[in-house]
Amino acid sequence: MLQSSFLMLWYSKLRGVRHMNYIFPKLKKNSSNTVTEQEKLHDLINELYEHEQLDREDYLYVLNNMTEEDSSYLFSRAFEKKEFYYGNKVYLRGLIEISNYCKMGCKYCGINYKVDTVERYRLTKDEIIHCCEEGYHLGYRTFVLQGGEDSFYTDDYLVEMLHSLKLKHKDIRITLSLGERSKESYQKLYDAGADRYLLRHETASRRLYNHLHPSFMSFDNRRVCLNNLKEIGYQVGGGMMIGSPTQTNEDLVEDLLYLKELNPHMVGVGPYLCHSDTELRGNDSGTLLESLVMVALVRLILPKALLPSTTALGTLSAIGREKALKAGANVMMPNISPSENRIKYEIYQNKICTTDTSGQCRNCIEGRIIAFDHEIDLGVGDYVGFERKNRHD
Ligand code: 5AD
Ligand code: FES
Repeated sequence: MLQSSFLMLWYSKLRGVRHMNYIFPKLKKNSSNTVTEQEKLHDLINELYEHEQLDREDYLYVLNNMTEEDSSYLFSRAFEKKEFYYGNKVYLRGLIEISNYCKMGCKYCGINYKVDTVERYRLTKDEIIHCCEEGYHLGYRTFVLQGGEDSFYTDDYLVEMLHSLKLKHKDIRITLSLGERSKESYQKLYDAGADRYLLRHETASRRLYNHLHPSFMSFDNRRVCLNNLKEIGYQVGGGMMIGSPTQTNEDLVEDLLYLKELNPHMVGVGPYLCHSDTELRGNDSGTLLESLVMVALVRLILPKALLPSTTALGTLSAIGREKALKAGANVMMPNISPSENRIKYEIYQNKICTTDTSGQCRNCIEGRIIAFDHEIDLGVGDYVGFERKNRHD
């Protein structure tokens, strides 16, 4: 016995530094709460439902004592909150992965500049416009243009593309997810018609951020970018990965506190999925249940937020995305990228929908949503009560 654990330790050392995760101990061990613990936990969940925030200590209690049984209660309260603002509607966004070139070095990401096993591609503006056209005919009215940080996409290039898109269709929203840029750049893109910007903060813990990113990347700049985007008038999305190497419940509490302070319009929450060609190879991935708990908590803290049920959740379980709808998510982002490129946008492995056409994804998603007692909404799906600030033009 002793010998076999020694061998396992030696083997994991050989494969690289392996970190045990320190989040949700009672979920991991599948333990249960005493009656008193459960009462306190449910009281805190109810308080969160009523007041939309807790203090640091109480958040930590919730995370430290969350069990599988109690997560059902949390999910039902988060679902109630979502129903209050959005009913059973799920907004669909057409996702176009425009480039897998990236100059950044996020250690978890399978398309960071160091990974040499991925074939790189980028779409031209005409190809992007073509994808949007196809998406428009499938009924989508929001297009999410996501890519690595690729200097090919200058402001002028993107501005021209945004102008063409917005000239052609007055009834669409464009979400950009192209990483950190200067405030001037964000402003130009907003003025040219971009409506929303997704830039996950990744983690609100400086320690964890520095662990997951190389030293040339800046925790503070990420926050500056998010503040700039808000100031300009974008609908802004933050977000984080759950279960990343060395993440603790204390780190997750930082995320909850930060999200409340930032008050973004959208929050992307998904599991960390270990990619074997990155320097974090050999670590455990996050789990579905942990991620769903965080989705539900975010719904309670930011009741009106647009919360995507992320593709990463669908990668962990065949009905991961549907379960997220039951835990408070209200957005899905089916892929409308050209089929030949999908497999190359491999931020993590075993990504779903890489062999489907845009039309197949569209139908598949609708079927899934209906099967889980929800309805699709193909409207632009702005944040409740959002009004766009005037452009600088
Ligand atoms: N596992 C899960 N999510 C990842 N992302 C990048 N790499 C991974 C991974 N290995 C997420 C990051 C990024 C978003 C586009 O994808 O949070 O912001
Ligand atoms: Fe893409 Fe099901 S959502 S195939």
